[in-house]
Amino acid sequence: MNLLLRTSMIGATGILLGACSTSQSALAPTGEQAERINTLFWVMTIGGGLILLLVCILAGIAIFGGSDWRRRLAGENLIKWLGIAFPVVVLSVLLTYGFLVLRAGATSTQDGAENLRISVSGELWWWRVTYTDADGNRIETANEIHLPVGQPVTLELTTADVIHSFWAPNLAGKLDMIPGRTNELTVTAKVPGVTRGQCAEYCGGAHAFMSFHVVAQSPEDFTTWLAEEASPSSEPADAALTRGKDLFLGTGCGGCHAVRGTAATGSIGPDLTHVGSRRSLAAATLPNTAEAIADFIVNNQHIKPENKMPTYAMFSETQLRDLSAYLESLR
Ligand code: CUA
Repeated sequence: MNLLLRTSMIGATGILLGACSTSQSALAPTGEQAERINTLFWVMTIGGGLILLLVCILAGIAIFGGSDWRRRLAGENLIKWLGIAFPVVVLSVLLTYGFLVLRAGATSTQDGAENLRISVSGELWWWRVTYTDADGNRIETANEIHLPVGQPVTLELTTADVIHSFWAPNLAGKLDMIPGRTNELTVTAKVPGVTRGQCAEYCGGAHAFMSFHVVAQSPEDFTTWLAEEASPSSEPADAALTRGKDLFLGTGCGGCHAVRGTAATGSIGPDLTHVGSRRSLAAATLPNTAEAIADFIVNNQHIKPENKMPTYAMFSETQLRDLSAYLESLR
């Protein structure tokens, strides 16, 4: 491949990457912690780029330069200053700067116990998200983390099984979820909006399908959302939805899933009390529509191989439609 073609391919790749969505990008920070990482990235990249340029120029001179230039480059002084002193100084400065920018050593719990605390547990392969309201009631949801902007929020990261890693790149750096430990990550969203996160530690078959959404909201919107989330599920509004609810309760779905306000109190799978109001299904794998719910009930082992939900192939087409319509109506 000639040089021109290669260069243009690298350029094209750069343009394509540049067109990628910024909804899951450490280079489009929407939180305080990610802003520091972003600053560090650019300082390192631009600084490293300049040094690379300098090295290339010197190498060019060493290869193609006149004998006078080459003699100067071979001098001992240049090796002492540019070869030893320069890297030692630059690397020491960068290391100190990196520690300062990322506040290394400061624990992520520095902001104290008054922070809003959200418990996030990694599961095979989804995220259990639990809020505790002022009265101490636990409000569970899944695969979606709502945050009030402008306030430090402490995420208590745990795992129910293997090691996962929580990574919402627009908000902060990643932090592992280790069995038997609670790791705390304090994040402060600065801009309202929806971004995306992903499990960043290989955790088995469907690791790549273990994503989530972060919804940063004004404190008022957040309070409204949490109150809605705390309320029990809505009652079916028509006959089809009632049939769907009866199917849900009658065929054992409640053994694994909870729908608050009904007899379904399972806790193995995600809480479905307000599943219809979420942005996605199956940890940001599918869009949240009645069709996708039906698809997941029947084909979940194909969509998300080895997940803990069995395939339910016994429903008739009408039953499947009623059941998925009922779940979609849970807003
Ligand atoms: Cu969980 Cu990878």
